[in-house]
Parts: sequence; C-alpha cells; structure tokens
Amino acid sequence: MNILVTGSNGQLGSEIRDLIPLYSNCNFLFTNSSELDICNNVQIETYFQDKAVDVVINCAAYTAVDAAEKDALAAEKVNSEGVLNLVNALNKVDGKLIHISTDYVFDGYHYLPYQELNEVNPIGVYGNTKRSGELEVLNSDIDGVVIRTSWLYSAYGNNFVKTMLRLGNEREELGVIYDQVGTPTNASDLARTCLDILTCKKQLNINAKGNLYHFSNEGVASWYDFAIAIMDLGRLDCHVKPIETKDYPTPAKRPHFSILNKSKIKNDFEIEIPYWRDSLVKCIAKIKNTK
Ligand SMILES: NC(=O)c1ccc[n+]([C@@H]2O[C@H](COP(=O)([O-])OP(=O)(O)OC[C@H]3O[C@@H](n4cnc5c(N)ncnc54)[C@H](OP(=O)(O)O)[C@@H]3O)[C@@H](O)[C@H]2O)c1
Repeated sequence: MNILVTGSNGQLGSEIRDLIPLYSNCNFLFTNSSELDICNNVQIETYFQDKAVDVVINCAAYTAVDAAEKDALAAEKVNSEGVLNLVNALNKVDGKLIHISTDYVFDGYHYLPYQELNEVNPIGVYGNTKRSGELEVLNSDIDGVVIRTSWLYSAYGNNFVKTMLRLGNEREELGVIYDQVGTPTNASDLARTCLDILTCKKQLNINAKGNLYHFSNEGVASWYDFAIAIMDLGRLDCHVKPIETKDYPTPAKRPHFSILNKSKIKNDFEIEIPYWRDSLVKCIAKIKNTK
C-alpha cells in the first residue's frame, strides 16, 4: 500500500515518520509543502501521474488559529480548497483518504463529550475553514474518513508542551487558563491510529459520508491541569496559577468545552486509547531523548 503523507514536516506527519518500522507492509511517500503544495493542482496532478498513490493521510493544514482571524483566505485555501484538490485527485485513482479535522468545529456550549453527529458551530475562522474541509470529504464519493482531534502536541514543532517546558525553565510563575476544558492528544497516538485504521482487518470501504470520527487521548483536563502535569513531569520548579480566559485575550475565540466522545472509533476499529497523562510522559521522555 502506497501511503502519501502530505504536510509531513508538521507534528502529525513527523510522528507518522517515526512509526515506519512498525508498518513494514506500507510504503510511505512523505512530502512537505514545497514538494507538494495541496493548493497547487498542477503539482498534485503531476505527483499522482508519477507515483501510484493508494492512500493519502492529509497532515497539511493552516493551523495558526489566531493568525487565521486576519487571513481567512489563506486558511480557507489550505483547509478547504486544498482538501478538495486531494479529493479530486483520489477520485481519479480510486484512492482512499484520511483527513484530520478539529474540535474547534464546535462552539463549546455543551455539557457532555461531543459525538460525531452533534451540531457544529465554529466560533472562529480556523474552525470554519476546517469545517469546510470536512464537508469536501464527507460530501464526496471517495473512500475516506475524517478524524477530528483536539489539543495536539508532539516532540516535533511548536506546541503547548514545548512552550510550557521552555517557560517553566525561564519563569518562576505562570498564569494558565483553567476555564477551557478538553483532552490533550499526543500526535504519536493519532499517527498510530491513522495507520491502524488503514491496516485494520475492517477495510475502509464504506462510503465517506458516514466516516466521521473523534479521536483524542482519554480523560479530561483544563489547560491549567495540563500545564501542571508538564511542570511536574518535566521536573520544573515553576508555580502555575489558574487564570480565566478573559485574563488571556487572544484574537481567536476558543471553545470552553471540547471534550470528544471516542466510542465510535474505538468500537469500529477495536483500538485502545491511552490516558492523556500516560501519553504525556512518553512525549516528554522523547523530547528529552532528542535534545
Ligand atoms: N495542533 C493542534 O492543536 C490541532 C488540534 C486539532 C486538530 N488539528 C489538526 O491536526 C492536523 C495536523 O496538525 P499539526 O499540528 O500536525 O499541524 P502542523 O504541525 O501545523 O503541520 C501542518 C503542516 O502542513 C503544512 N502545510 C501548510 N500548508 C500547506 C500546503 N498548502 N500544502 C502542503 N502542506 C502544507 C505545513 O508546512 P509548512 O510549515 O511548510 O507551511 C506543516 O508542515 C491538522 O489538520 C490540524 O488542523 C491540530
């Protein structure tokens, strides 16, 4: 199986690369944004003519949530038009797609973990563009899945874990928001799930319209809880104090509640999901080992 990984220099793409030895029956084609710009149809067409692509895992995205508020067109281009370009290319070769979306398609005014068919209502530009991208897949005839995830971090790229480890070394005290709750997700666990879905005995052969899934690590945390755990596991002597969202204004609004219900993905693909703190332990060890 030839698996094209787009945007492979990002967090998720890099974690997929680290799993290559575990999936010897897969042949990976990793591309970065200059080798394969998903907004460039000519590049996509040439690439698909040159290589026999069976599956795309789309890790390419415009992920700058705050910057998107001022640059909606750029975000829409990558997060929606780029996805359509991949869908069209896959349609011609009868290929499959795993596309990644976000908890930011929800407004956060919920009290139970979000299920796949709960009403979406993005409250920012990024979430809006990601929702458009989801629809390009779900309304197509290709064989594909959309996996919504939340609070992604990894040993690669910039993310909350690495920022906290840096600030924990620099400061004695730090205020972190406690009134937004969700679940952190180690990108390595998501990477593994994408590959397990593709190599699972239950082949992806159902029409894409129903193939929407939620995936995060298990459990619940606020950003404050997450920060405390990072300081603890990183053995950093930085006092974390709880603050409210209103005390940390950002250009983009975030949902106050974005816990995802993962029953569907667990049942359909028979996967077990690690507790968020256990996966954080692994990521912090990996960060320390790669220094
Ligand atoms: N990070 C989170 O907290 C979070 C939460 C929920 C869902 N998600 C979703 O999870 C997925 C993976 O996120 P991530 O954190 O791994 O993202 P990331 O680290 O920001 O990586 C995104 C990658 O996409 C590439 N890219 C941007 N525009 C592109 C284009 N036109 N063509 C090809 N590649 C392009 C970027 O390359 P350049 O650097 O060269 O531009 C970058 O390597 C995304 O769909 C994201 O929306 C993320």
